[in-house]
Amino acid sequence: MPIHLRADPSDYAPAVLVPGDPRRAKYIADTFFDPGFRLVNDERGALGFTGTFQGKPISVQSVGMGCASAGIYYNELIQLGAQRIIRVGTAGGLAPGLQMADTVVAISATADDPVVAQMTQGEAHSPTASWNLVELAVNRGRELGARVHVGPIVSSGLFYDPRQGIMQRWADRGHLAVEMEAAMLYTLGAIHKVETLCVCTISDLITDENNAERISDDDMKIGVDRMMQIACDVAIA
Ligand code: HPA
Repeated sequence: MPIHLRADPSDYAPAVLVPGDPRRAKYIADTFFDPGFRLVNDERGALGFTGTFQGKPISVQSVGMGCASAGIYYNELIQLGAQRIIRVGTAGGLAPGLQMADTVVAISATADDPVVAQMTQGEAHSPTASWNLVELAVNRGRELGARVHVGPIVSSGLFYDPRQGIMQRWADRGHLAVEMEAAMLYTLGAIHKVETLCVCTISDLITDENNAERISDDDMKIGVDRMMQIACDVAIA
């Protein structure tokens, strides 16, 4: 039994959704899973649930914020037999033309967090999603009427970033959005031969390090619900 997931391999489905927020994990189970799902972890309040979605096994496990926290849970989920791990989260929009509640399917995640390079022992690595999951998510998102953007994102180690101009430089190099957990997921997926994907809802539009416009609660719910629907469909596909 791992240290942070107080569970046995049989407690998790092969496909696991991984939001950061424990309450979002509960919301996903309550809203999307078939009735009868069960709590499989509450160590440190990191809620995890297992049940079915449209009759097929699925789990959701919250992983906290940042690659260091999320990496603990990704590692332990892999130890427990996870085969397909899909991050659902929010991200700050960097690219021109993005709108609040848009869906970003991250084809790759630049690792702006030193713990990812520690995982590869300093060797350069390109954290990349599993193409089959990217394709499924993009197609499903468009069917659901989402505004879907596909491209690279940044996984930053710092929410409050003192580096002047960094957001603009990331945008200039083609990144769509910034979040904090995908690069670790994609790197561990490559190391352990597990399928991985990150789907994000745009929750802020970032002008620079000091200025961001925040989404309304109503738009957040619309965007997050649509992202979760996409992620559940991809999880069981
Ligand atoms: N930065 C990092 N992660 C985020 C942001 C952000 O601005 N918004 C949502 N997740």
